Amino acid sequence: MDKAFILRQLDTALATCSSLTVLEHIKADFLGKKGCVTELLKQLRALPLDERPLAGQKINELKQVVLERMDSARNALEQMLVADALQRDTIDVSLPGRSVESGSHHPVSLATAKMVAFFTAAGFMVMQGPEIEDDYHNFTALNVPEHHPARAMHDTFYVDSPFDVNLLLRTHTSSVQIRALETQTVPLRVITPGRVYRCDSDLTHTPMFHQLEGLVIDKTSTFADLKGLLLAFMENFFNKRCEIRLRPSYFPFTEPSAEVDVRCVLCDGAGCRVCKHTGWLEVLGCGMVHPSVLETAGIDTDAYSGFAFGLGIDRFAMLAYQIPDLRMMFDNDIRFLRQFS
Ligand code: DAH
Repeated sequence: MDKAFILRQLDTALATCSSLTVLEHIKADFLGKKGCVTELLKQLRALPLDERPLAGQKINELKQVVLERMDSARNALEQMLVADALQRDTIDVSLPGRSVESGSHHPVSLATAKMVAFFTAAGFMVMQGPEIEDDYHNFTALNVPEHHPARAMHDTFYVDSPFDVNLLLRTHTSSVQIRALETQTVPLRVITPGRVYRCDSDLTHTPMFHQLEGLVIDKTSTFADLKGLLLAFMENFFNKRCEIRLRPSYFPFTEPSAEVDVRCVLCDGAGCRVCKHTGWLEVLGCGMVHPSVLETAGIDTDAYSGFAFGLGIDRFAMLAYQIPDLRMMFDNDIRFLRQFS
């Protein structure tokens, strides 16, 4: 094989080479152990001694040329590959970006968080109780014995029970008052936000809604403390001066009991659709804990007294965020929820 032939072969091979792997194969074909240039070197032995140096020199020159051409082919190939990659990865910087949507808290969560923040700052602990409750905690221990008409008033969802206690979906968070009295020591300040259930569904009622219950047991807790606490709470929650009034009412677990109205936070008492033109909004129930509730829990009623209150979180959220329809809260309409981000 002569030098010119080998170089022509090399040029043809390099001209069609499109990858670094193929280039390695070409290198092996020419310079590898069995490559054609290497073969030439092996054939040197067949030449007479005096011809070998010159022939050897020529082969080395050939090898040098092969190496140079391979190098420049490699450079060209690498540049081409980079250009290809750039071409492939081009991005259109004028396209609009994909935005990351951030979620928002549900108004009930916002209202709950605000209430919890107020009461924890006032020294209350937060307690949770089971949503599937027994009738002892939901009724009996709250001074609502079996066959008491208040049980019927509650539109209770009963649950099939594998035990010999009646199970139900708690109708109010007052059941957690009993669990607090059972597990904590007095003096005690606790709030219990959570879901409650009643078999009731219309414009202003959903079968599941949210309540926040408060319970304070101490040696000196009075009705005046209760009223002061509720006023401070409302002013904090609605971010404005509030006026409240307490009307006598009846709850089996408190005596005396009261219902609390707040001067309409939307019209400031002038009268509007939300307060049904009365100027007042009925927002919660409260009272001094009934002695029989304390006695059932084994608390010395000569030394301790207490007060409790229960409110509907959903109703507070509707007032604070001016949500016109309760059912919007649970429709999961993203357009509604976005307004709270
Ligand atoms: N549990 C009552 C209800 O769901 C609300 C309530 C009234 C809670 C008076 C209380 C209370 O703690 O003292 O209608």
